[in-house]
Amino acid sequence: MDKNAKIAESMRIRLDFPNGLPEHPGFLPGYRRAPDRVYSLSKNETVLALKNALRYIPEEFHKTMAPEFLEELRTTGRIYGYRFRPAGAIHGKPIYEYESKCLEGKAFQVMIDNNLSFDIALYPYELVTYGETGQVFQNWMQYLLVKKYLEELTHDLTLVIESGHPLGFFRSRPDAPRVIITNAMMVGLFDNPEEWHRAMQLGVANYGQMTAGGWMYIGPQGIVHGTYNTVLNAGRMKLGAAGDDMLAGSLFVTSGLGGMSGAQPKAAKIARATSITAEVDLSRIETRHSQGWVDKITADLKEAFELADASIKAKDPVSIAYHGNIVDLLEHAVKHNLKIELLSDQTSCHAQYEGGYCPQGLTFEERTRMLNENPAGFRKKVDESLKKHFNLIKTLCERGTYFFDYGNAFLRAVYDAGCKEVAKNGENTHDGFIFPSYVEDILGPICFDFGYGPFRWVCLSGKPEDLRKTDRAAMECIDPGRRFQDKDNWVWIRDAEKNGLVVGTQARILYQDAEGRVRIALKFNEMVRKGEIGPVMLGRDHHDVSGTDSPYRETSNIKDGSNVMADMAIQCFAGNAARGMSLVALHNGGGVGIGKAINGGFGMVLDGSYRADEIIKSAMSWDVMGGVARRAWARNENALGVGMEFNENKAGIGEHITLPYIADEDYLTQLVKKLF
Ligand SMILES: NC(=O)c1ccc[n+]([C@@H]2O[C@H](COP(=O)([O-])OP(=O)(O)OC[C@H]3O[C@@H](n4cnc5c(N)ncnc54)[C@H](O)[C@@H]3O)[C@@H](O)[C@H]2O)c1
Repeated sequence: MDKNAKIAESMRIRLDFPNGLPEHPGFLPGYRRAPDRVYSLSKNETVLALKNALRYIPEEFHKTMAPEFLEELRTTGRIYGYRFRPAGAIHGKPIYEYESKCLEGKAFQVMIDNNLSFDIALYPYELVTYGETGQVFQNWMQYLLVKKYLEELTHDLTLVIESGHPLGFFRSRPDAPRVIITNAMMVGLFDNPEEWHRAMQLGVANYGQMTAGGWMYIGPQGIVHGTYNTVLNAGRMKLGAAGDDMLAGSLFVTSGLGGMSGAQPKAAKIARATSITAEVDLSRIETRHSQGWVDKITADLKEAFELADASIKAKDPVSIAYHGNIVDLLEHAVKHNLKIELLSDQTSCHAQYEGGYCPQGLTFEERTRMLNENPAGFRKKVDESLKKHFNLIKTLCERGTYFFDYGNAFLRAVYDAGCKEVAKNGENTHDGFIFPSYVEDILGPICFDFGYGPFRWVCLSGKPEDLRKTDRAAMECIDPGRRFQDKDNWVWIRDAEKNGLVVGTQARILYQDAEGRVRIALKFNEMVRKGEIGPVMLGRDHHDVSGTDSPYRETSNIKDGSNVMADMAIQCFAGNAARGMSLVALHNGGGVGIGKAINGGFGMVLDGSYRADEIIKSAMSWDVMGGVARRAWARNENALGVGMEFNENKAGIGEHITLPYIADEDYLTQLVKKLF
């Protein structure tokens, strides 16, 4: 028997095609396709990439698949294995329609299919869920093979996934994670976009973004609540807005109607603000319009501002999509001295040279073409456009606008474009940027330092009535009188169904602190136990209190110098694994780009068991308080308060956080002054 035959025989779980290779299913018209990621491998590297992809394919099909893979690599910059994609549309189905030897194995399949759903995924054929490059897997062979593993998963096994590749099953125990995922964890020396681009082409790295590669994306709703919190609190802090109708009559201008950015008009409307969102890709505008998240569409700048003006005067919020470039829109506003209260940007600047940012002067179609035909010229155009974009923002801010970076690495991209003026110290980014990131000013002190973050759940039965029951139960777990954040969250969940947020599976996002998350999780598990609802998958965005170390974003309000460290995110991941979350994930990159962040998250399947209760009590609390403890150690005022409360309340069970003594900065400055 030859080597490959022996290898095949030794694998119980493998891709095999007894009836021959599947037919190439083709592509349905009308779905967005990822741009060419640009093939740049040498001859030897190309051979290596093909050898790597053929590891999934039985030898008898190598001569058919090698030329097909080569063609994909040359024309798309990746080997996606399109032939192996199941024909037709993918959707997250009710859990009972999946096969597995354990509930978790079925639950993960719901989540994977939801992440790749035609209703949700940005580029469903290229396995991209959101954020221009955030993939669930590298290719369709991995998708098929992971499904086979999940069908065989039991409570004694843990499946290891490395950059989308299922490394295998390894024995563990019932209260250990069933799946451990890592994505693009590059060794420091190679941890940069160029090496990652090579590794992606070789088929050894997957950019998981945050929740795409961790299978916890729940559609644009996931980001609506965070955006709502940010816009609402920006209004409170910067415009002095107050009361229930606080942002009515204010204008919020931004860009991007993609995977996450598409949440902006919806969030603004829930916060009662009028919004104009620039978007260069008409198909994305149409998607949001058909969901009812955008009210009006125009390609005429004058009309966009007239519509906004009417809405502002009537104090009746309207969300307007401007089909065109954000730089054109801001230029128009500056030229005509139009008032904008709140300004942001959500183009995919973490991947500005890969198509994430469309430079002024190019239509969406022209950017796709130029990216392919003249990447160096495209790069130059991006840099020019970003500089102009930045100068327009500066002018508007001088006239009273409040601008915040919404975690898309916009300010970093401006700096990379050669504009050092954007750095606070005019030299490098060590002291941050002249404009605050939304975490620095708003979400950090108001939410993360208290432990409030994007807790979420999916009703795996797929039944809307289960979601309704969980909404009501969650609301009962919140005391709206405790803090204003609790009141905001209570109002959010009260109105969640009315706001029509669900896209894909029956899911909900709700910002909660450690106590709230534990309370709600235990309540849901009890409801599953009593048969009131079907099983539930709990999780969160990686963009949270503890899960992410990202100096330009989640940890931009950490000021003790440790914002360059990734200890917190890694401890969070390890602690969640040790405490038995059903799924744990750790990624490089997230929303800001490779090498700029480490982020992790979890998924917890509620099966109604007492085992799940015990995991919730330890893991859910750790998942939040690890980050609060670190934020307290960084001397963040609100975290310090929560840390002291924790030490008092948890003394009985031995839990304890180390808190910092605060030194007198004036005295230290005087002391050190003598040396300089
Ligand atoms: N902080 C957070 O929690 C957070 C949340 C969401 C998104 N993000 C970041 O925001 C960015 C956007 O995320 P996404 O998932 O929506 O990505 P996306 O790629 O799906 O959407 C970005 C959109 O911007 C449009 N665009 C690009 N350049 C433009 C221009 N000059 N003018 C007008 N439109 C333009 C694109 O056509 C695209 O539709 C990413 O960098 C992501 O990491 C951060």
